Amino acid sequence: MHLFAIWMVVIGSWLSALWILIANSFMQEPVAYTLNGGRAEMTNFGDLLTNPHVWVQFPHVLTAAVTTGAFFVLGISAYRLLKSRGDREQPLRDLFMRSFRWAAVYGAIGVFLVIMVGHQQAQHMVQAQPMKMAAAEGLFESEDPASMSLLTIGDEPGRRDVFSIRIPGLLSFLAYNRFEGRIEGINDLNAAYQAQFADQYGPDADYVPPLALNYWSFRAMVGAGFLMLALALYALYLLYKRRLMTKRRFLRLMVWAIALPYIANSTGWLLTELGRQPWIVFGLQRIEEAVSPNVTTGMLLASLVLFTTIYGILIAVDVYLLRKYAMADPHAKEDDAALTLESAF
Ligand code: HEM
Repeated sequence: MHLFAIWMVVIGSWLSALWILIANSFMQEPVAYTLNGGRAEMTNFGDLLTNPHVWVQFPHVLTAAVTTGAFFVLGISAYRLLKSRGDREQPLRDLFMRSFRWAAVYGAIGVFLVIMVGHQQAQHMVQAQPMKMAAAEGLFESEDPASMSLLTIGDEPGRRDVFSIRIPGLLSFLAYNRFEGRIEGINDLNAAYQAQFADQYGPDADYVPPLALNYWSFRAMVGAGFLMLALALYALYLLYKRRLMTKRRFLRLMVWAIALPYIANSTGWLLTELGRQPWIVFGLQRIEEAVSPNVTTGMLLASLVLFTTIYGILIAVDVYLLRKYAMADPHAKEDDAALTLESAF
């Protein structure tokens, strides 16, 4: 029953991710609709499901979830391995060694796939939302071949570089798999959108998203991704050499590494949503047009406070329960486990 419940949660979460991403992808890349007096109406359900944005985003999110699970198990296993000493705790060490080994395999495969899919996403983004890519790279002027930023300090209001270290050709490679190819910069794209949407929003409307947030979100996600890859591969190497237990500092690091997938997930999501600004539905509706006249500021504030409180309580309960079970004796009898669960509430 326990195993059945686990699989139901997995399948339910994956289906939920799929539907959320189908809905969200309409905002990123609207498809399968017609405008009827300003109201978007769906024309084809199949086209909505096969929105190309979904099919780069969904595999990225699924493999990111596998990576998150793997790093969580790696961190808890590392903690328990560090804490178990003496012959009496040998069974515990065997158990957490096994969970560490499996999690290292899953983590390495998961994060490798996340990076591969991420590469495809970036290629899709250059075509579908070039401003998001320009913002993520702090690329103010168009380039061919386009360089990738190692560090850019920009003047955001002035829309120009102040200081930049860039790797020549790497952004073209990320976008087209070859070391040449034009990537449009923020200023050219803004001018192109101003011309394209002049009738609707006037000639001076701005189409540039928050730059520093996009730039650093992209770097945090990719940085955390490559760090996790290195950690998972090193963990596999130590397991292969049977030297894991001698590397206590590495085990301690793996406990802290639990934070990495959460950082990558949150910053990935920030990039996805902030990079879409100022659009609520890309190319179709700006944020200010989506503000409902029926909703007051007070109502918005009240719902924000309510949701923050509810989710704050849920996070606290979640962390409490996760910690409790991570610390519990895994060899305790089932009755004891049930009792612990009851006492948790
Ligand atoms: C290391 C290389 C990576 C690359 C090149 C990459 C690429 C991308 C790109 C381009 C996007 C935005 C897609 C869009 O808005 O169109 C994105 C979003 C995202 N990424 Fe990554 N990523 C990488 C690593 C990771 C890792 C390691 C994780 C988590 C473990 C992660 C989790 C996410 C999440 C959750 C989103 C938001 C998805 C959504 O809300 O629809 N990424 N990634």
